[in-house]
Amino acid sequence: MTAVGDWLDRRLPWRQAVRKHLTEYYAPKNFNGWYAFGALALLVLVIQIVSGVFLTMSYKPDAKTAFASVEYIMRDVHWGWLVRYVHSTGASFFFLVVYLHMFRALLYGSHKEPRELVWLIGMLIYLCLMAEAFMGYLLPWGQTSYWGAQVIVNLFATVPYIGDWLAETIRGDYAISGVTLNRFFALHVAAIPLVILALVFLHIIALHQVGSNNPDGVEIKNNKDADGRPVDGIPFHPYYSVKDTYCAVLFLIVFCAVVFFAPEMGGYFLEAPNFEPANPLKTPEHIAPVWYFTPFYAILRAVPPFLNSQIWGVLAMGLAVVILFALPWLDRSPVRSIRYRGWYYKSALIIFAAVFIALGALGTLPPSDGRQAAAQILTVMYFAVFFLMPFYTAADKTKPPPERLQ
Ligand code: HEM
Repeated sequence: MTAVGDWLDRRLPWRQAVRKHLTEYYAPKNFNGWYAFGALALLVLVIQIVSGVFLTMSYKPDAKTAFASVEYIMRDVHWGWLVRYVHSTGASFFFLVVYLHMFRALLYGSHKEPRELVWLIGMLIYLCLMAEAFMGYLLPWGQTSYWGAQVIVNLFATVPYIGDWLAETIRGDYAISGVTLNRFFALHVAAIPLVILALVFLHIIALHQVGSNNPDGVEIKNNKDADGRPVDGIPFHPYYSVKDTYCAVLFLIVFCAVVFFAPEMGGYFLEAPNFEPANPLKTPEHIAPVWYFTPFYAILRAVPPFLNSQIWGVLAMGLAVVILFALPWLDRSPVRSIRYRGWYYKSALIIFAAVFIALGALGTLPPSDGRQAAAQILTVMYFAVFFLMPFYTAADKTKPPPERLQ
């Protein structure tokens, strides 16, 4: 084995890579459970790729056969139902894990200097993930697939001057059709996954360049022993590889419970109208996107048309996502971790989480005047958290962080 390892190492420096990224990557010794979500996101990524490959073996990307091929996978293909439920549940869990992963960054200030690039690459991953989920949802060619895509692609048509051209280019047709299905399939199974994999690779390389943050937000690189090792750091492997494996097992228990006992999750993970084949002549009564998009959908619906154009709602929705890119520069606090921040930031974070969840809940419900008014108030609060951030983070009364990890 050693001889094979040596042979390989002379041609591909794998030992150096293992040392740099695992056995001699010094991670802060105080990681808590929040730090498992990065590894869990990696796990879900692998689950999605593997289950996706097996689905592709039996799925037929054609408007005439797509719906029936999914039913065939569910009923006739050996273990097809399991593969499909793993993939559809995996999509929801991917967002759940990534939202918690992002929230951890907000808790401990991981988006702040020197990890801005890690955050920016993370945001690009998030955008790709949204595109991946949206395009994947068209593939079963059910009613929500069809009409959901119709609503979202029509948003692009609201862009002045180039809107119609843009929407047609995305669809490849004047309406959602088999052509759209084919191009979404190509993007969903090949193009976007490749981009996501490349971005995840860069995300981790960028993180290892500057080192991990931690729940205290204290930079462990500032305190090294005579050998140049951070005194508050421990090797990623075996310490955190074991901890992440433990968390992965806990995660898989919950994941399997959903896959086996509640794969539709009361219509939140797989919507009821999607068990009906797409019918371009019959608009469903109420169309709502899957739960992970509903906070942004609620913002879209909150903004009324103005000057005969829907573009304002589209812009508000776009801005709600894009503003997250600016977070490292909006946050002007001298400290990173919530543990040493004042109550301004603490309150803002609680408000943000509550507003995001409330918008998400509103986005799943059919519109009414009262709900629109509520969504408008919440939308203003959502943007206030970000636009006022430079002021309240600079004015916040922070505590001095410790020199060493607690
Ligand atoms: C496929 C999706 C993603 C994967 C596989 C992934 C993977 C990881 C891994 C393995 C880590 C190191 C372990 C940890 O700190 O949890 C990490 C750290 C980090 N990720 Fe992600 N990530 C993803 C998406 C995102 C997104 C969407 C964002 C934010 C927009 C983000 C922001 C960060 C930040 C700021 C860190 C550094 C945390 C710290 O050191 O405190 N990631 N990511």
